[in-house]
Amino acid sequence: LADDDGLRTGYHFQPPKHWINDPNGVMHYKGVYHLFYQYNPRGAVWGNIVWAHAVSTDLVDWVMLPPAIYPTAPFDVNGCWSGSATVLPDGTPVIMYTGIDGQNRQVQNVAYPKDLSDPYLREWVKPDYNPVIAPGPGMNATAFRDPTTAWQGPDGLWRLVIGTKDNHRGLAMLYRSRDFKQWAPANRALHSGDTGMWECPDFYPVTSPDVGSGGGGGGTKHVLKVSLDLTRFEYYTFGEYDHATDTYVPDAALADGNDGLRYDYGNFYASKTFLDTAKRRRILWGWANESDSTDDDIRKGWAGVQAVPRKVWLSSDGKQLVQWPVAEIESLRGGHVNVTDRLVGAGQHFEVSGLASAAQADVEASFQVTDLGKAEPFDPAWRGADAQTVCAARGADASGGVGPFGLWVLASDEREERTAVFFRVFKGGDGGKHVVLMCNDPSMSSHADNLYKPTFAGFVDVDIARTGGKIALRTLIDHSVVESFGAHGKTCILSRVYPTKAVGEKARLFVFNNGESDVKVTHLNAYEMRSAKITSDTTEPTSR
Ligand code: FRU
Repeated sequence: LADDDGLRTGYHFQPPKHWINDPNGVMHYKGVYHLFYQYNPRGAVWGNIVWAHAVSTDLVDWVMLPPAIYPTAPFDVNGCWSGSATVLPDGTPVIMYTGIDGQNRQVQNVAYPKDLSDPYLREWVKPDYNPVIAPGPGMNATAFRDPTTAWQGPDGLWRLVIGTKDNHRGLAMLYRSRDFKQWAPANRALHSGDTGMWECPDFYPVTSPDVGSGGGGGGTKHVLKVSLDLTRFEYYTFGEYDHATDTYVPDAALADGNDGLRYDYGNFYASKTFLDTAKRRRILWGWANESDSTDDDIRKGWAGVQAVPRKVWLSSDGKQLVQWPVAEIESLRGGHVNVTDRLVGAGQHFEVSGLASAAQADVEASFQVTDLGKAEPFDPAWRGADAQTVCAARGADASGGVGPFGLWVLASDEREERTAVFFRVFKGGDGGKHVVLMCNDPSMSSHADNLYKPTFAGFVDVDIARTGGKIALRTLIDHSVVESFGAHGKTCILSRVYPTKAVGEKARLFVFNNGESDVKVTHLNAYEMRSAKITSDTTEPTSR
C-alpha cells in the first residue's frame, strides 16, 4: 500500500499526513467548532504526542491550525495526552489534559486561550501552577489520565472524572474544585469495573426526545462511557446520577463490562462528546485506527481518521443510545441514484450502478423481509455469546433462512474484492422475538496481505415482526472507511478496509441476499459524496 493507492478519505477527518489518535477538547465556542486530536508531528506511528488543532463552522470543512498544546514544561515534557474542554460560565474555555512529566508520571494540567479575541483560539497558555492534579499516594501514576469535561454541582463546585486502574479494576475517579486550580479527590470513585484500565471516560446527561409526548421515553439519564485498552472497545451504561451525593447508579438492565452496550461494534475508540449549544444537540467524535500494518502506515505516511461526527441521544424506549451522522454532512451529497420496490430473491444480487464513484458515497437503504417464517432457530449454544462470535461463525457467504442480506460495498468488477454489511435474522430470542444481527464482514475486502480483518457485529434491538419485516441500513463509504448505521442508528459499525482493485471509479456497489427468504429493497438512495475542504491556516496569530 502506498500514498497514492486511493485509500485516503474524502470526508472523514484526517490531517494531510502522520499519525492521529483520540479526539480531544471538542467544543463549540462563539460559532466555531474546535477539534483537537492526538497527533505525532514527526511520523505515521504513535509517539511525540501533541494536541493538533482544526476548526470548522459546519463540522464538514476544516481549517488546519498549528498544534495548540505541545510539550514545553516539566509537567508535560514527555507528551500531551488526551483531555477535554469546559466552557466556564463567563464564557472562557479551559482545557484540561494529561501531561507526561519528567518522571513519566501522568498528571493533569490546565491551559487557557492566550487571546480570546482570536476566533480560532490558536494559542494556549499553561499556567506555572500546573500540574493541577497529580496521582495521589498509592495510585498508579502510569495509568491516571484523560480528564472529562467538568460540570458544576448544586454546591457550585466543579467536578470531573479521570480514568485509572487499581490492579485489574478500572476506575472513574471523581475530583472537585472551586476554581479549576485546586482539586480534591472524592472519597469514592464515581464508578468502577473489573475490566482493566479505563481510558477516556465520558460522563454526560442525555434526554429522550419523546419524553412528554406519550412516547414512553426514558427521561433524563446520565451516560458513563469508558474505553477498555485491553479489548480496544468502548462500552457505556446510563442511569441515575444524584448531583448532591455524586452517586451514579446504572440502570439495572444494563450490563457493565465487555458485554455492555457499545457506541460502535467496530473500529471506534477513545471517543468524546460535547454539547453543541448552537444547535442544542450532543455530538460524539471517535477515532478509527488503521487495520493495515505499521509498515503500510509508514509507506502511506498517514494513520488514523476520525469517524463522522454523530448526534447522540437516548432512544424513545429509554433502552439504549441512538446515533446518526450530523445532518451537515448531507451537504456533500452529489449525484444520486434511486431504487424502489426491487425484489432480491434467494441467492441473488444486483448492482446499484450510475454513481461516478462508489468509493466515496452515502447509501440509505430500506429492506423488507417477505417471509420471516424462514428464519432459522437461534442456536442455543449462542445464547450469551456476543454478536461477533455468531457473525464470525456465519459470515456473509454462509446462506441462511433470513439473511444474510445487505450491501456489498467497495466491490471490484468481479466482486473478488468486497466488504459485506448485512443483517441476519433468527427466531427464538427472548420472549419469542426474532434475534436481529448486524454484521460487517471484511474477509473478502482486499487482495493485500498483512491486514487485520475481523468480522464486527452487534445485535439490533428491533422487533422485526412488528415492523412487518422492515429494517433500514445507512452506510458511509469513504475509500478505506465503511461506517454503517443499522435500524436508524441503533447499532453502528465502523470498519477499515484496504481494497486494491475496488478503488476510485472502479469501486462498485451491490445489494445481495444470501438467505432463503426474498428481500425487497423498498427504497435505496445512493449519493456520491464530494470531498470536504481541508485548508491550512498558518497565519501568525495577531497576539504574537
Ligand atoms: C487512548 C489513549 C489515552 C491517552 C492517549 C495517548 O487511545 O491511550 O488513554 O491519553 O491515547 O495518545
